[in-house]
Amino acid sequence: MPLTEAAQSALCNPGSWDERPTRRARGSRLPFQAILRGMLRQPSHADLLETAVDLEAFVADVEAALTAALDDGTHAGPEGPEVLMEAARNLILAGAAKRARPRLTFLFGRAIDAPVDALVDVAVAGELIHAGSLLHDDVVDGAETRRGRPTANALWGATAAVLSGDLVLTLAFAQLRKRRRIITSEAVETIATMTRGVMAEVLARGRVELPLDQWRAIVAGKTGSLFGWCARSAALLMEEDEAADRFGDCASRLGIAFQLADDLLDLQRLGTGKDAFNDILNREPTFPILVAADRSKEVRTEVARLWNAPRVTPGNAEALGRAVLATGAGAETVERLQEEIAAALEALGPYAERPGGREIVAWSKELETRARETLRPRG
Ligand code: IPE
Ligand code: IPE
Ligand code: MG
Ligand code: MG
Repeated sequence: MPLTEAAQSALCNPGSWDERPTRRARGSRLPFQAILRGMLRQPSHADLLETAVDLEAFVADVEAALTAALDDGTHAGPEGPEVLMEAARNLILAGAAKRARPRLTFLFGRAIDAPVDALVDVAVAGELIHAGSLLHDDVVDGAETRRGRPTANALWGATAAVLSGDLVLTLAFAQLRKRRRIITSEAVETIATMTRGVMAEVLARGRVELPLDQWRAIVAGKTGSLFGWCARSAALLMEEDEAADRFGDCASRLGIAFQLADDLLDLQRLGTGKDAFNDILNREPTFPILVAADRSKEVRTEVARLWNAPRVTPGNAEALGRAVLATGAGAETVERLQEEIAAALEALGPYAERPGGREIVAWSKELETRARETLRPRG
């Protein structure tokens, strides 16, 4: 068997390396066998390249399917119900979306050998649920820009944005028609969890001493649950319930880490394509703000003062963002993000060694590196 094929088959069996004899029991073997085993344990460049190429082809398929799902032939001006699909396309086909959920769907799917056409449906549905939640979120947060463009609410008003979000959610369900019923019923539950998470977040506004377990429940609901659904669904396509539990646990923690990274970005003017300081302006007790308020009495007093004022100005918000980071809360946020990732990868278990799994590990490391980079002083 050629080396790469042997490596591939060894890596495709999640239990294979755990079952190897111990070093003591292998004592009499020839050294070259140990070297060969070491080589097999390393993923070959060909495997890594193949997954990377397949991932980009997958994202291209997702883009095409999203375009098709959103093309109902209406391209009207701001009058009439056609505006709902126009608003959806304005957000979803904007080009600046990272497509994090579809990418992870593919990687989890590859780790369990799920068929690509079914994974495209899950990924498209996941991205549409995400998009529906963003159309609503920008109304809830009063956001003016997203993905470098004016938001739907800024262009067409809150009513059109909310109704467009509803319509986009129905497109997500249409995409799942051919797939197992449980995937659709878990999507319904996920949207309910996300909605409750956002409402809990709105109710927590202004609470500078929000307990961290409540903060985490909010974030697990609004962001973690959809990451979890994408990953669980990849395993459910294969009727692998145990893997679904592992994947769901892993991805919902990755979603929490992802939200922590996003909350750091809000504290600075970084050209993310979104309004800067929107969390501060909305009196949102994000993790770095809660940590800073706990670390520094001055920051706690300033946050409380601003959040009790009739209006937070952008200048005040920018100064507060700086003060929050000056307490070291940014570094603590990255530490928390690291902890979530470590627990996520633990939950992934043997799948972390498989094609797809290795890229999930790499994706997590990249998230951590980027979060750390946002803290580097800029000249
Ligand atoms: C934004 O999601 C909402 C969060 C959960 C932080 P993304 O950061 O994935 O936004 P896009 O899809 O790339 O625009
Ligand atoms: C994510 O939270 C909202 C949802 C999951 C709906 P944020 O409010 O932080 O997302 P952004 O920063 O607006 O993208
Ligand atoms: Mg928002
Ligand atoms: Mg945010």
